[in-house]
Amino acid sequence: MKNISLFVILTLSGSALLAAQSVDAKSIYKNRCMICHTTKAVAPEEKGKLLGPPADEVMYHVKERYPDKEKAVVFMVDYIMQPSPDKALCASMDKFGLMPAMKGTLSPEDARAVSALMFEKFPRPDFAKAEKKDRSKITFKTIDANGDGFVTPEEFRNFRAKRNHIDPKTFKNDLYFKRIDLNGDGKMDPSEFEAMKRARSGK
Ligand code: HEC
Repeated sequence: MKNISLFVILTLSGSALLAAQSVDAKSIYKNRCMICHTTKAVAPEEKGKLLGPPADEVMYHVKERYPDKEKAVVFMVDYIMQPSPDKALCASMDKFGLMPAMKGTLSPEDARAVSALMFEKFPRPDFAKAEKKDRSKITFKTIDANGDGFVTPEEFRNFRAKRNHIDPKTFKNDLYFKRIDLNGDGKMDPSEFEAMKRARSGK
């Protein structure tokens, strides 16, 4: 009898703990992330107003590279504590600038909880489907607007601006472009384009 009640107490407190954790992750998300990472589907004309990539976009990129939840969470915790241009998986830092570091203002436990929550909820299936379809159409030639066999930072910005329905002048830097440009000649060639695609999917 004693054992049974102990079992009941443990089970109950266990599930109460889980519930408390998920509530907590939600409020961390609301208080610390949502201002920049909206959970909504964003209409093209709204894109210019964002402070950061929508949660759907962030998690599309993270999951493309890390389909495994544990690996994704490890990556995310490290990133949000101390973001850097060489760690970033998506090119958003050119558009918005780098995400501010949360080290010292967010505990590792909270970072884990909120990362796990994002992994579970995003991207929504309809976003993922549309994004995949849209991306499958992108080739080197689509980006190389003047067809000279090289993509300049300007062509890359113009291409991304058009895709996101924003003004290319609003781009803050070319940090991601510098990473793609492996030989550092200021241009992206087809082999660097392929390398970028491989790096994104981790293959
Ligand atoms: C002040 C705005 C801001 C806040 C607040 C913010 N982020 Fe970000 N985040 C950004 C921007 C901008 C980027 C894209 C640039 C980059 O990758 O650094 C980004 C990128 C990311 C990425 C993708 C990194 C990559 O490139 O692969 C993850 C994951 C992320 N944020 C998680 C979070 C989480 C979780 C929170 C809340 C704890 C959060 N962010 C809060 C602005 C913000």
